[in-house]
Amino acid sequence: MPTQIILDCDPGHDDAVAMLLAHGNPLVELVAVTTVFGNQTVEKTTRNALAVAAVAGITGVPFARGAHRPLVRTIETAESIHGESGLDGPHLPEPAFALDPRHAVDLIIDTILAAPPRTITLVPTAALTNIALAVRKEPRIAGLVKEVVLMGGGYAGGNWSATSEFNIVIDPEAAHIVFNESWPLTMVGLDVTHHALATPEVVAGIAAIGTPVARFVGELMDFFARSYRDAQGFEHPPVHDPVAVAYVIDPSVLTVRTAPLDVELTGTITLGMTVADLRQPAPEGTTTRVATRIDAPKFWSLVTEAIRAIG
Ligand code: BDR
Ligand code: CA
Repeated sequence: MPTQIILDCDPGHDDAVAMLLAHGNPLVELVAVTTVFGNQTVEKTTRNALAVAAVAGITGVPFARGAHRPLVRTIETAESIHGESGLDGPHLPEPAFALDPRHAVDLIIDTILAAPPRTITLVPTAALTNIALAVRKEPRIAGLVKEVVLMGGGYAGGNWSATSEFNIVIDPEAAHIVFNESWPLTMVGLDVTHHALATPEVVAGIAAIGTPVARFVGELMDFFARSYRDAQGFEHPPVHDPVAVAYVIDPSVLTVRTAPLDVELTGTITLGMTVADLRQPAPEGTTTRVATRIDAPKFWSLVTEAIRAIG
């Protein structure tokens, strides 16, 4: 039985690759895709999610639009990395199907309540606003999901400030809610995703597949490489979000450690910092884990094979 996942995302170049990995790998099944503001406005990220679905031939999966702004703060987007559309680079096709009429929060809740207990894995790859709202609206979901595996944070530094990662710092109150819930939670942060680099070898391996989906990914990576070089000085772009999906597919892709985790809400220069207490042993009953190492070749081989399998 594949692991059933809800992908909560803000496509976003790396969110798009996360969706393709989830669609193309037989060990996971996308049961819902929900969108949130982040890399761009929620109107744009939702449009982009539907465009990726059209490119990949994803059908029969409900897609729903979610939160348009953070819980407390004003909206901030990542146009410097993802461009004006949020998915600049390739041509974006028109949606092939209509959005689910429900709000993302309701689709998340309904999907979890309708499934057998502890079968659904939540995979957020964006601001945690939808997830926080969902667990506040229907607290039973905390005990009903299998686990939360999220891309966000980092215990050793940030990318949107010195200490803080984009997905967390753009809605730190939402992240605080999600990190402090009782569900098992794994933080897949910059500590590992900054080693998931789309090197020229990786990009050539994907290009060699030669399908429209592979070309789409190639065009995404071209743009992503340029903006990561110009905006953040990276030689090759880190492709963050599919790392969380890859961990659900094959936990041996990451080394993880049980550690208490929390989100800074009151620091004057550390807002949104994810603090991992890595002292050992972790206190009894700790339900949070943090990724510390990645097997990058294994990760890229999962991504490449998924793109090939989509055809
Ligand atoms: C995260 O921020 C977003 O811009 C990316 O899609 C990824 O989820 C990396 O910090
Ligand atoms: Ca994202």
